[in-house]
Amino acid sequence: MTHDAVEVISAKRDRRELSDSQIDWVIDAYTRGDVADEQMSALAMAILLNGMVPREIARWTAAMIASGERMDFSTLSRPTADKHSTGGVGDKITLPLAPLVAACGVAVPQLSGRGLGHTGGTLDKLESIPGWRAALSNEEMFAQLESVGAVICAAGDGLAPADKKLYALRDVTGTVEAIPLIASSIMSKKIAEGTGALVLDVKVGTGAFMKDEALARELAETMVGLGKDAGVHTVALLTDMSTPLGLTAGNAIEVAESVEVLAGGGPADVVELTIALAREMLAGAGVTGVDPADKLADGSAMDAWKRMIRAQGGDPDATLPVAKESHVVNAPASGTLTRLDAMAVGLAAWRLGAGRARKEDPVQDGAGVVWHARPGDTVTQGQALFTLLTDEPERFDRALASLEGGYDIGDGAFTPQPLVIDRIG
Ligand code: URA
Repeated sequence: MTHDAVEVISAKRDRRELSDSQIDWVIDAYTRGDVADEQMSALAMAILLNGMVPREIARWTAAMIASGERMDFSTLSRPTADKHSTGGVGDKITLPLAPLVAACGVAVPQLSGRGLGHTGGTLDKLESIPGWRAALSNEEMFAQLESVGAVICAAGDGLAPADKKLYALRDVTGTVEAIPLIASSIMSKKIAEGTGALVLDVKVGTGAFMKDEALARELAETMVGLGKDAGVHTVALLTDMSTPLGLTAGNAIEVAESVEVLAGGGPADVVELTIALAREMLAGAGVTGVDPADKLADGSAMDAWKRMIRAQGGDPDATLPVAKESHVVNAPASGTLTRLDAMAVGLAAWRLGAGRARKEDPVQDGAGVVWHARPGDTVTQGQALFTLLTDEPERFDRALASLEGGYDIGDGAFTPQPLVIDRIG
């Protein structure tokens, strides 16, 4: 059935539910260019303001999946599981997680993105490894999943093209923050990707997309519902992003920290979250009797990492790029570090050149922030608290400004907050 854009926009403006046929039509017509950007912007804003019921969200997701190809890994010799994070500061978990889960016998088809704004992108981090390439054909991806068990690569243009167009439009029209649009955007890509099981890491806190726990929970519940309805075994962990993960935010420095985790070391919070997500992925894929912690300890996750990097042209033993300039920030007082704000650190890393402002901007491989203490640690006045890294020293001032007020040193008691807040599944 044919509709027209003004009819669909007015229905949502007037708080009416869109019919299945209106949704199918508007997504298809927008993808083909028959609905103009300004009309889709108006509809996205009406959805942001007036919401959608679960049926509309499910149909919107299905229409975005139908706009492109659907991958199928059902003929692989092992089950598949993937993870999606809604994005945070220092969130390098995909890097150790994919080879770890592969080492446990489950294939990981991870289609990732580049970073925009203060949260980093997995592909930007991996591209700091000399020779590594993000673009793989579907055939190469399939072959690597069979031979190595893990692939982290860029999503091809054929996957949910409606979302690619709509996400770029939302980015410039103030309509990113609509739960129906976020949930359908993420889940259309993950369902089209063809994974059998999916674990969602939904971040909450200052460094996350969702600062508010109730909204993060609503997003998680919506996405879990969409996944289950599509036959994907889906669970979500609600995890804290008020403090950045690990001790580094950047590209090469996050790769180095991930390699430490794969070598059996690394910061405790990165290890904890990697193992928690790996356990969920194995359970979702129906694999029991393997403990991911053992595979980190016995070196098999590291072996899988090296094979995964080599399969995509990278040299896992190459020296990683180092920033040309560094600047150390010393602790202004002695005491306990009681707060380290994820947004402040993320913004500093971004301003140093680790992230990009527009999607066509380059990123610096060596740029970023290293923090030398985590909340709960004792610090001494004058000790190094942060090391800022960049190739362009004129960036230091703005990065320093974003760290101001981003941490507290006190002498009161410190109560650690749990990293995994809840599980929704
Ligand atoms: N990530 C996505 O892929 N889509 C959104 O809408 C938000 C975050």
